[in-house]
Amino acid sequence: MKQKMVNLLRRVGLIYIIDYARFTVIRQKNNSKNKAFKKRYPNESFPPPYMVYETFRLDYQRYFDSGKDTAEWIKKEIDNFKIIKNWNILDWGCGPGRVIRHLPTIIGNDCSFFGSDYNPEYVTWCAKNIPNVTFKKNELNPPLLFNTGEMDLVYGLSIFTHLSEHSHYEWIDELLRVLKPGGVLFITTHGDITKQNMIEAELGQYEKGELVTRSNVKEGHRMYVAYQPPAFMEKLFAHKAKVLSHQSGKQQSWGLQQDLWIVEKL
Ligand SMILES: C[S@@+](CC[C@H](N)C(=O)[O-])C[C@H]1O[C@@H](n2cnc3c(N)ncnc32)[C@H](O)[C@@H]1O
Repeated sequence: MKQKMVNLLRRVGLIYIIDYARFTVIRQKNNSKNKAFKKRYPNESFPPPYMVYETFRLDYQRYFDSGKDTAEWIKKEIDNFKIIKNWNILDWGCGPGRVIRHLPTIIGNDCSFFGSDYNPEYVTWCAKNIPNVTFKKNELNPPLLFNTGEMDLVYGLSIFTHLSEHSHYEWIDELLRVLKPGGVLFITTHGDITKQNMIEAELGQYEKGELVTRSNVKEGHRMYVAYQPPAFMEKLFAHKAKVLSHQSGKQQSWGLQQDLWIVEKL
């Protein structure tokens, strides 16, 4: 019922207004908690509230702690397959730096760190506030402003989940272009656990292995949603990358976890 209502709002063009109203309510609700958290970390920079809301959830403690946990998780997952040393590492769709801000400390090891996003405000904020990382802006569609074969690791957390089918094909090719042969791509998608959020027609499409998109809003925005059946992802990688790991998302206390795909450029 909730999903049908959201789809209707999307169709009649009211989704942005409702989403902004939701933001103002949450900002008010979390105001004192957020203020208290920021006071405890006077030496850290925190992005403005809408940036945190749009890319994650409006809770500064969770923005900070989950970013650190995610950075540690990326390192742990990659350690299963490769030795990270002297690497060039790119956060594609870095948003306001939730994860990349922690990586120089967590990985270190003579690596160089980069971030890219299509939203100029995120890139400007990150470049001003996050040390030891180089930020560049890309457009909604490729290219990235990096050289062919420049990266050892590219990760994209919840980026494909906001892109059209056409962009999936374009971006896989582009992410693989900037990777060295043997380089690793680490991405998250909406997998089987999110079937419970789909309406009947979407589910039918998903079960056939087709990408499902909820469009009617600007592509790349948080309200543009894409669901990726594993069969679709495998087709996307075929002949270009070897799947090292696919982990299906689970129901977590905070919501539905995304699927993780770790692939190696052939
Ligand atoms: C859900 S947020 C995730 C942000 C960040 N990866 C994180 O985990 O905190 C999605 C991000 O993808 C960015 N984005 C959407 N489409 C993009 C594209 N085509 N290229 C680069 N970034 C994109 C948005 O601006 C936003 O920062």
